[in-house]
Amino acid sequence: MSSGDLRTDRPHSARIYDFLLGGKDNFEADRAAATQMLQHTPGLPISMRANRRFMAKAARYLTGAGIRQFLDVGTGLPTRPNLHEVVQTEAPDAAVMYVDNDPLVLTHARALLTQVGTGAVSYLDADLRKPEAILDAAGSFDLSRPVALTLIAVLQHVVDDDEARDIIGRLMAPLATGSALALSAVTVENDPDGGPGTVKTYNQNGVPVVARTRTGVEGLFAGFDLVSPGVVPVHHWRPTDEDKGVDDAAVYMYGGVAFKR
Ligand SMILES: C[S@@+](CC[C@H](N)C(=O)[O-])C[C@H]1O[C@@H](n2cnc3c(N)ncnc32)[C@H](O)[C@@H]1O
Repeated sequence: MSSGDLRTDRPHSARIYDFLLGGKDNFEADRAAATQMLQHTPGLPISMRANRRFMAKAARYLTGAGIRQFLDVGTGLPTRPNLHEVVQTEAPDAAVMYVDNDPLVLTHARALLTQVGTGAVSYLDADLRKPEAILDAAGSFDLSRPVALTLIAVLQHVVDDDEARDIIGRLMAPLATGSALALSAVTVENDPDGGPGTVKTYNQNGVPVVARTRTGVEGLFAGFDLVSPGVVPVHHWRPTDEDKGVDDAAVYMYGGVAFKR
């Protein structure tokens, strides 16, 4: 792959996120954008770590609920623990399909995201905006059995609410009753002074991002049964010890988990 394919001259969502999580898979353009964001929202890395913990909490919860097939769209660069590590530690036979449209993510995923259990781990280069292509590739899943669709910190890049709901509806439609939707989405309700500056920085750098209200995020779950505690800041979703004491003002993500009736 050439650096031209990677567009290293432009910031990318996954690489900004990687930099803010302390990773090494990022380039100068990503670091420059992230540094600008930190001026508005110095707590951003706290938020991103809380979001990763949310992914792990939701994955563990859904594995505990008996789900053995996970479709993770908007995977991001590998950061431990990765979703399949959580899932296959709880249920070694569980299958995980990762989907992203960033070439660097897919290259790293193929190299690093190796099975920890007996279940399959697969990767798909696809766009969330083309749900049918994702579902076609999920052919190895048994769609008569429940699937967990995880959309963790990706729907902020689908700025139109109707489009986001339509994507969720199309991805969930063929899934069996008892399937689940876990998602987290960006907000600035926690920090109305600093948060909008970071959202603006993403957009000015060519990465479309929208911040949603709690009501807006609840709207993404329309038609599904939210489990307790509903849509809450990610560190308040069934908190671990690490979540306790996290500054509410530093967490820019709402999260929730729901089941399909
Ligand atoms: C902020 S990262 C989140 C990574 C991971 N889910 C997490 O929460 O730790 C957003 C990811 O979504 C991916 N992404 C953005 N738009 C996408 C699209 N239209 N289709 C597929 N992936 C997309 C980006 O490449 C990036 O890896």
